[in-house]
Amino acid sequence: MGFQKDFLWGGSISAAQVEGAWNEGGKSPVQIDYAAVGGTKGNRKVYFRNADGSRGECSLMGRLAPGAKYELFDDIHYPNHIASNFYHHYKEDIALFAEMGFTTFNTSISWARIFPYGMKGGVNKEGVEFYRNVFKECRKYNIDPVITLYKYDEPVYFEETYGGWTNRAMIDEFAEFARICFNEYKDLVNKWLTFNEINIQIVYRAVGVEHGDSQVQYEELHNQIVAAARSVKLAHKIDPKLKVGCMIAGVCVYPLTPDPNDVYLAYKKFQNTFCYCGDAMIRGEYPGFAVRMWKDDGVALSISEEDRRDMLEGKADFLAFSYYNSNCVTTHESGEHVGGNLMRGVGNPYLKVSDWGWTIDPIGFKYFLHLLNDRYDKPLFNVENGLGAYDVVEADGSIHDNYRISYLREHIKAMQAAVNEGVDLFGYTMWGPIDLVSASSGQMDKRYGFIYVDMNDKGEGDLHRAKKDSFYWYKKVTATNGEYLD
Ligand code: BG6
Repeated sequence: MGFQKDFLWGGSISAAQVEGAWNEGGKSPVQIDYAAVGGTKGNRKVYFRNADGSRGECSLMGRLAPGAKYELFDDIHYPNHIASNFYHHYKEDIALFAEMGFTTFNTSISWARIFPYGMKGGVNKEGVEFYRNVFKECRKYNIDPVITLYKYDEPVYFEETYGGWTNRAMIDEFAEFARICFNEYKDLVNKWLTFNEINIQIVYRAVGVEHGDSQVQYEELHNQIVAAARSVKLAHKIDPKLKVGCMIAGVCVYPLTPDPNDVYLAYKKFQNTFCYCGDAMIRGEYPGFAVRMWKDDGVALSISEEDRRDMLEGKADFLAFSYYNSNCVTTHESGEHVGGNLMRGVGNPYLKVSDWGWTIDPIGFKYFLHLLNDRYDKPLFNVENGLGAYDVVEADGSIHDNYRISYLREHIKAMQAAVNEGVDLFGYTMWGPIDLVSASSGQMDKRYGFIYVDMNDKGEGDLHRAKKDSFYWYKKVTATNGEYLD
């Protein structure tokens, strides 16, 4: 009973959200470098210069208007330029992770540090050395890093040169980037994730956040799925000991009412938003219901024989996923809508919400773990789960974040119950152990960490680190392999 002896405990962050140093070490700009701060509704925008000289804007992961160019404007604060400045503080930060007893740690490699201008521009040695040093630092403390290759931060050079992921040249670019990473770091990193939350576009479609037409979105996603499969094959060829997982945003959907129409709608959302990608990457082929999705969305996807072979031969070794909240859907008139990391839906009268309107649902976590375990029969790894909140620094510098402890405690309890009921889960990395820039809102003040970083939404702060109450709590959790949760 309880978590397996070598269960991995840690935290998860991402390059663009913590590193800062946006134009140091040979890195080229990525889209998030042009994004401003939003608010509790997560409405951050990316700004650029239109062809006619006016200022244009799009949502994060949206597209440049034709003829437009990314540009920085003096009156805008760009939070990701500084972020938590992990780039210069990584030794201090990893030492703090080790003090909390981390046995694993998930971050991403910024593609723009390794290949700032694609294959044509060549490998940036400074970027390669930066990550080597980060991984060595982890190993110094016996932390087994789990590394994500892609977390939405490809160089803007690709968008300007290829027009983005619809161009199949991106598959070759990605495979080469993956090959370099596996070769360079295979002795330091043995667990990899290909694309973070690869289902993001499909989820955005489901909640009405439009990012271009459906044909383009499905083609982009297909190219990413093929790129991921090819990199799994590459990793296994380079070193059969390397394990490569896929990473899919957890979309936990409930019917708002027992009306069978609502029940079916909820199941369809799970199929569309999670299983379309999960099946393609874990089972190696698109599910039968994909035909319905393509028809509903007016898409004609051309899948070559080579793509089909790559998908079958490049199945992921394990299934990693994020879980923050659940949402309801209904075919009836509905009340208030709630937010979520990607999925949004109708409010659930049985659940409370965070300051950002995300439901807090630990039982949903247990339910979701079972769903995945039953469907995929592959080892599971939860790589993101956490609470964004406003923290108060007391006069003596202490931070009493019992709301965060409570959120994590209830989710870990639910996870433990699922494991005791037979779910095959081998690790948990909460999001994010150190304060960082929120992906959706761009806020530093939306804090997730056990470690406080002195930096606010206006770019004020000296970046010093401080331990919150949750820091000491998580240390006990890891020390007792999840037995101590009070
Ligand atoms: C996840 C993303 O979906 O949600 C993270 O992978 C993100 O990058 C996390 O930070 C929490 O969302 P947010 O918008 O509060 O930062």
